[in-house]
Amino acid sequence: MSSKKTGGLAGVVAGESAICTVGQGNGLNYRGYSIEDLAKYATFEEVAFLLQFGELPNKIELQEYKEKLTKARSLPEKLKNILENIPKNAHPMDVMRTGCSALGAIEPEFNFQSEQDRVIIRLLGIFPSILLYWHHFHKDGTKLDTNSDEDTIAGYFLEKLHGKSPSQDVRRCMHVSLILYAEHEFNASTFAARICASTLSDTYSAITTGISVLRGPLHGGANEAAMKLIDSFDGIDEAVKGVYKILEDKKLLMGFGHRVYGEDGDPRSPIIKSWSKKLGGDTDTFKISEAIEKVMKKEKPQLPTNADFFSASAYRFLDIPTDYFTPIFIMSRTTGWAAHIKEQRANNKLIRPSSQYIGVENRNYIKLGDR
Ligand code: COA
Repeated sequence: MSSKKTGGLAGVVAGESAICTVGQGNGLNYRGYSIEDLAKYATFEEVAFLLQFGELPNKIELQEYKEKLTKARSLPEKLKNILENIPKNAHPMDVMRTGCSALGAIEPEFNFQSEQDRVIIRLLGIFPSILLYWHHFHKDGTKLDTNSDEDTIAGYFLEKLHGKSPSQDVRRCMHVSLILYAEHEFNASTFAARICASTLSDTYSAITTGISVLRGPLHGGANEAAMKLIDSFDGIDEAVKGVYKILEDKKLLMGFGHRVYGEDGDPRSPIIKSWSKKLGGDTDTFKISEAIEKVMKKEKPQLPTNADFFSASAYRFLDIPTDYFTPIFIMSRTTGWAAHIKEQRANNKLIRPSSQYIGVENRNYIKLGDR
């Protein structure tokens, strides 16, 4: 196989999974349910349960699951100390990665067969607390109180970020965004998490791996990068000129293109775009976003918007700081990572591919003094 053909393992089927379809003529489905239906009817907790346990919960199961998630919000003192000592100008992705890893040391998982579901729920519950404890400690010197009447991750995160209960639309948009980001088959972070799990490592390590890989702007970091791009333009005319310049310079426009969907487009994009429009359709941010999209549709129809592009403006309209966009992705994608970690463990085989050697052939060793 030529290196061009296998570049980035594009098109390579790297394993079997019963969790999600991405494209493949079948749209995006989590365990057989379409993303359109889930985004319209479900709460994020129902989707999290579906991914973690394989089926949608009934009312009692959902109630119990939500109670466990709510209990899992509390922060151990040792973790609070660590969060207080992370610099206030650190990137929030560093906070999340460190928080996840530190919790693994404070509350270790000794036996993943019996403990993995507890650890997954603990991480899902605690991630908003990790981010917002660090946020408030450094922003206003207060220590986050993790008690709340909000019984969902979306509501809890928004309430603790803004100090007040979110409106119905704002809360629902957050649910939809978490649902859209929850799972996406063998994307880079999920595959990396599976590789980690395949070595029989623990859940915290596999999720920390996922966070590390998600961070880059070619993956989860694209929502933050897309917002920075949109913010860099003062108005529609400047945005149009700016996009042409970026294309001329052969640079990347963040939030466009997708390895698997290609020109068919990312089915998550119209859903989050409709929410962005609903919450901020008459703002400059939305109009600039649409102007950028229009130029790209004309000049690069093979590179449509992906989920990240309109997630950026949607989060802006939820009044979320730009560098918290990718940490929110973690709060969601942990469900997908968890499903894959469990699936990998249930039928494990170490993931260890081979490479084709293209380096220098056999050479005679030259002693240090002779070089
Ligand atoms: N803006 C401008 N040009 C882009 C582009 C973008 N967002 N995405 C791809 N291209 C160009 C590439 O430069 C390349 O051009 P070339 O053939 O002249 O070299 C061509 O389109 C093919 O792209 P390639 O990088 O081979 O595709 P890929 O499958 O490896 O990359 C992404 C997929 C997602 C990494 C890529 O589209 C990208 O970098 N997008 C921006 C980051 C982003 O939004 N990531 C989130 C993904 S959900």
